[in-house]
Amino acid sequence: MTERFYITTPIYYVNDVPHIGHAYTTIAADVAARYHRLKGQEVFFLTGTDEHGQKVQEAASKRGVPAQQHVDELHVRFKELWARFNISNTDFIRTTEERHTRVVQKILQDLFDRGEIYRDTYEGWYCTPCERFFTEKDLKEGNCPECGRAVGQISEANYFFKMSQYQNWLIEHINSNPGFVRPESRKNEILGFLKKPLGDLCISRPKERLAWGVPLPFDDQYVTYVWFDALINYVSVHGQVPEIKTCGYWPASHHLIGKDILTTHSVYWSTMLKAIGLELPDNIFAHGWWTVNGQKMSKSLFNVVEPNKLIDQFGVDVIRYFLMREVPFGLDGDFSHKALIGRVNSDLANNLGNLLNRTLNMIQKYYGGAIPTPDVTGPEDEPLKAKAREVIATVDKLFSELAFNKILMAIWEFLDAANVYINDTAPWNLAKTDEGKKRLGTVLYNAAEALRFASVLLHPFMPASAVTLRQQLGLSATVEDEGLASLDAWGKTAPGTQTQPGAQLFPRIEEKEAEKILAAAEAEEKADEAQASGIAPIAEQVTIEDFMKLDFRTGVILEAEKIKKSKKLLKLKVDIGLEQRQVVAGIAEAYEPEQLVGRTIILVANLKPAKLMGIESQGMILAGSDSEKIVVAGFDQELPKGSKVK
Ligand code: MSP
Repeated sequence: MTERFYITTPIYYVNDVPHIGHAYTTIAADVAARYHRLKGQEVFFLTGTDEHGQKVQEAASKRGVPAQQHVDELHVRFKELWARFNISNTDFIRTTEERHTRVVQKILQDLFDRGEIYRDTYEGWYCTPCERFFTEKDLKEGNCPECGRAVGQISEANYFFKMSQYQNWLIEHINSNPGFVRPESRKNEILGFLKKPLGDLCISRPKERLAWGVPLPFDDQYVTYVWFDALINYVSVHGQVPEIKTCGYWPASHHLIGKDILTTHSVYWSTMLKAIGLELPDNIFAHGWWTVNGQKMSKSLFNVVEPNKLIDQFGVDVIRYFLMREVPFGLDGDFSHKALIGRVNSDLANNLGNLLNRTLNMIQKYYGGAIPTPDVTGPEDEPLKAKAREVIATVDKLFSELAFNKILMAIWEFLDAANVYINDTAPWNLAKTDEGKKRLGTVLYNAAEALRFASVLLHPFMPASAVTLRQQLGLSATVEDEGLASLDAWGKTAPGTQTQPGAQLFPRIEEKEAEKILAAAEAEEKADEAQASGIAPIAEQVTIEDFMKLDFRTGVILEAEKIKKSKKLLKLKVDIGLEQRQVVAGIAEAYEPEQLVGRTIILVANLKPAKLMGIESQGMILAGSDSEKIVVAGFDQELPKGSKVK
């Protein structure tokens, strides 16, 4: 076992609203970091934000603020979310920090001096939103192969990194290090990609087109391509090149990434490292994507699953658990509230929650809350102890594979074994006889001990719940203090420990509550769809009785005039047959007063009068609107004044 463990997440685009996809990678890295700390390793866990590039420059200028101010304000959203999620990162790197840009420039200068970077004229296609160059054959139906948007043709002088010369070396490295790119399917994808000739990488952008980046140290008319800048974060956090080699944290143990950024990491970053003269990371692990109802999450689709809201609704550990348990790390998954509720009820409330409750209740009932001293052992105790030894070994092996969902399945098998143990030994029967009572203490001790094991194994996934679990068991030392070593023997819980039963760890989400959550989620989905289509969502249902309370009448506009100091309002006099009404209507931007006189309109005739700009309005006329215009509703044939409208 190497003493040091270094794990990273991608650095997230600072412009993005943090969503469940970002949380996924970060939680996975946190789980692994916490586990390796429990093993006694020195862990460095890095996350951060990617703050340069075209999109940031554009967003800042749209807001009318300097780019630096923009990123200073926005990156906090990530920091705050990670704090809420109990993320135990060692450092948070921002690519606009001087400690980072300094290293980027040093590396660039060094590569330039050694002829790894050259200047040339580039002619080809460029996708502005993706900030990437493409050759004719890369394009998909003439558009950007990444985002599908239109590309522009450009010809300009730029700087290039001699990436192509490392193609064969990289293929060889991937083939001789089977664990380098994982899962296997992603490794094959990259090997497939490397069958085509690898070009050199354009690593500069002319300042006149893009000013927001790290200036090239050897040509101040250019800034660094955002990926060349961003990837270096993984080492710049440790200092300059000589220190990186000696800090003990390079090469990284794992770069966790989403499958979308596999090429940039396994090809660009690997060849960059080779040229710089640094070792390659032990592993690049590309996980799958979360979709929502089968659709990609994106701001423009308004369907981003907002982690803060989920935390408010379900709690941090439920979300951490769900994301790690629901989908095998490496595969895609679809997010749904229904699956989330299912997991809470079956795994958390039923399995884990019940084990804790019934154990503490019986210890309370039979031993006044103090964990009993084990007395007579029996053959039924063995399978549980064996399972405990087995789960520790299984979990350790699965952590090396980052198979988070399998780890949780293994832990739950152990919890099941503990529940089965209680069912089979039936402490409630043992309590009835003197002979049985000799076994009772042992059984309840073992149940409590199983929960102590669970608290350690669950800590990486649900750190706050592990704390509560241990408080209720009466254990004073923290999991972090005791580490995995505390599981090297069965029986470390001190008999006599006073338990402290408290609130249920994971209350069941009852059917009524579940229905409410699902209905709210569905309404939100509809609202998202509506927003994406530009149409306002449909309001809550009303009954026919509700509707019939409203009295709509036809009326003819007799007079119309502007209201002083109001851009939007007109004062109208409307004849509705039985009487005349004064109405204030917000249609001044759409109609001149004289256009309205003589028109038949529809008036809500039984609306309580209200004052607008000090003028009483005795009703409301119906009009349709979108973001651009307002149109007063009318009829295609004449109707007498005062006619009912339904
Ligand atoms: N800034 C680059 C990364 C530079 S790393 C040197 C970037 N940032 S990003 O904000 O777009 O975040 C990308 C990462 O967020 C993905 O690789 C993945 O880890 C995570 N996810 C973003 N959306 C996701 C899903 N819908 N599902 C799962 N994870 C996804 O690319």
